[in-house]
Amino acid sequence: MGSLGNRLLTWPARFGSPPLTLRPRPKRREPRRAGVFPASGRASPLLFTVLACVALAPSIALAQPAVEALAKFAITGDTIAQPLGGAKGDAARGKTLAFDPERGNCTICHPVPGGDARAQGDVGPTLAGVGARLTEGQLRLRVVDGTRINPDTIMPPYHRVEGLNRVGPRWQGKPVLSAQEVEDIVAFLGTLRQ
Ligand code: HEC
Repeated sequence: MGSLGNRLLTWPARFGSPPLTLRPRPKRREPRRAGVFPASGRASPLLFTVLACVALAPSIALAQPAVEALAKFAITGDTIAQPLGGAKGDAARGKTLAFDPERGNCTICHPVPGGDARAQGDVGPTLAGVGARLTEGQLRLRVVDGTRINPDTIMPPYHRVEGLNRVGPRWQGKPVLSAQEVEDIVAFLGTLRQ
């Protein structure tokens, strides 16, 4: 053991790290495991794979319905031309959603006509006239996922479930707005023409 240690001490750094066969293996005391583990005390990689699949299966199954709640959409240029899930938007419902602090909460960042200007943020551009500036398809992509246009935007993606940080357990796997709600908001934005 001592000689192996010495050899490692003199192993030239420019050779890179010593081959694995030369490295002393730390002596671990293998706890005795009963049952599924082979007698050697080491679990085979296959066994781990099988166990991991069994352990993950319920969460994969649970994630399924939420992922289905996400509408499929196609992006062309900076637009989503087709209404999500073929839904027809309702501007009045969209206005309620846009102002609702628990839902769209758009006014925390945008001045939005039709509300108390003093209660509205201005880190985002005003939405006054946005229905004339942008087409319906452009509005839809900006609400669904603004990061497709500007990866650094602070505007939350409203119809996305992947790649979000620290979403509370209750909301994981669910988009902030459903396909129908996105269409309602897009319809409301379309009315903001001046
Ligand atoms: C956390 C802040 C924030 C929230 C909340 C937010 N936005 Fe935005 N939004 C922005 C910013 C900032 C921009 C500017 C574009 C960028 O960052 O790339 C923007 C851009 C937009 C644009 C494009 C405007 C233009 O003139 O080009 C639209 C439309 C829009 N937001 C709609 C909404 C709607 C509708 C909601 C609510 C459902 C909302 N936003 C919620 C920050 C926000």
